[in-house]
Amino acid sequence: MIAVPDSWNSPPLDLTLDINEIHVWRVSLAQTETCLQSLQQTLSTDEQTKAERFYFPKDRNQFIVSRGALRAILSRYLHINPCLLRFEYNPYGKPSLTVAQGGDTLRFNLSHSHGITLIAMTKNRDVGVDIEGINPNISYLQIAESVFSPYENTLLRSLPKHLQLTAFFTCWTRKEAYIKAVGKGLSIPLNQFDVTLAPGEPPALLNVENKPAEASKWSLIELISSTDMVAAVAVAGDSQKLHCWQWTGEF
Ligand SMILES: CC(C)(COP(=O)(O)OP(=O)(O)OC[C@H]1O[C@@H](n2cnc3c(N)ncnc32)[C@H](O)[C@@H]1OP(=O)(O)O)[C@@H](O)C(=O)NCCC(=O)NCCS
Repeated sequence: MIAVPDSWNSPPLDLTLDINEIHVWRVSLAQTETCLQSLQQTLSTDEQTKAERFYFPKDRNQFIVSRGALRAILSRYLHINPCLLRFEYNPYGKPSLTVAQGGDTLRFNLSHSHGITLIAMTKNRDVGVDIEGINPNISYLQIAESVFSPYENTLLRSLPKHLQLTAFFTCWTRKEAYIKAVGKGLSIPLNQFDVTLAPGEPPALLNVENKPAEASKWSLIELISSTDMVAAVAVAGDSQKLHCWQWTGEF
């Protein structure tokens, strides 16, 4: 199982991403007004328009910081001005860099929740990330019944009551990370594949209905597992070296 560092470090100035590495960046959504304005200025016209459409300022700022930080981080790998980066989207909305800017090589995915954005980066390997705040006020067994697989439901219900809520969110983030790595989002039926979810069980995609070879093509990594938050990454191939970087607002 891949070793997850216990802290999020400042990245080196000279940043390189090897094919056997996964870099995950943690970005705080609480940025100063000055930083927010600087990030906004790096967005493209369509991104600025999207930002303006959010009704609540909190959602608008979340989009600006996430997208702006994504541009700032990508520019550190590519040595291209953040304003000049161009994204394209697959039919399910997954953003990638244009091929002309290396989108077929440098892959990324992002997820935001509860004041944090995680951005996962890989080279030549599809990647998906999901972060969720643990909400104790949801009817998790009912939700699991409608979206998890029969295997996952049986396992979840077999756990002691006090472990079920975290196991539910652990399962949820592993499933979302996988569908985001594939890039087809929720058009992939969540109940047609199994992931591990029990405490102490290594993260893994176990089985995908009607695709016997699929599970062995992906690795899952648990990034955060605390009492209030869980996060997972799915990556094509073997998971090898993970680096966790903290983004501190630098461009
Ligand atoms: C992708 C999806 C699972 C995201 O779930 P979520 O938990 O609400 O949101 P997260 O914070 O984890 O991730 C959102 C980010 O994922 C990325 N994303 C969007 N669509 C994606 C996809 N299909 N696959 C992977 N990543 C995707 C984006 O970067 C997005 O952030 P942004 O809007 O700030 O750019 C969900 O929105 C989905 O299924 N979308 C697909 C919709 C679809 O099928 N559309 C078809 C055209 S109508």
